[in-house]
Amino acid sequence: MSADGRIYHRAMLLTEIDHVAIAVNDLQAAIDYYASALGATVHHREVVDPDGVEEALLKVADSYIQLTTPTRPDSPIARFLDKRGEGLHHIGYRVADCAVALESMIAAGATAIDEVPRPGSRGTTVAFIHPKGSFGTLIELVEE
Ligand code: CO
Repeated sequence: MSADGRIYHRAMLLTEIDHVAIAVNDLQAAIDYYASALGATVHHREVVDPDGVEEALLKVADSYIQLTTPTRPDSPIARFLDKRGEGLHHIGYRVADCAVALESMIAAGATAIDEVPRPGSRGTTVAFIHPKGSFGTLIELVEE
């Protein structure tokens, strides 16, 4: 809602739920669990060095479950696990244009963690939005 109390609708910017990210202590144990419990297999596995994480993507239709674990103690995922334990960490929303979606979210009052889009895993372009101001959910905008 804007300052004049009206809600302005804009064109839909989301094209897919890109991924649901789950923070885990033991990546291989989580991969094995999803494989034996649900038959979900690893589509892509990558160490994302700037973020201090290793992630495994399990493909579900055109979306992913992203299992993510820290690679060093100062990684944000390590701090999350220390504070909150294992569990849901963030949701990735797929968009056609990360910069446009980021600008739109900021205009709507969101607090950006990334002021400008940056490289993510598997060649994507991403930007994170702080949970504060976004109804308690860490949001990642993902452009493929
Ligand atoms: Co993510």
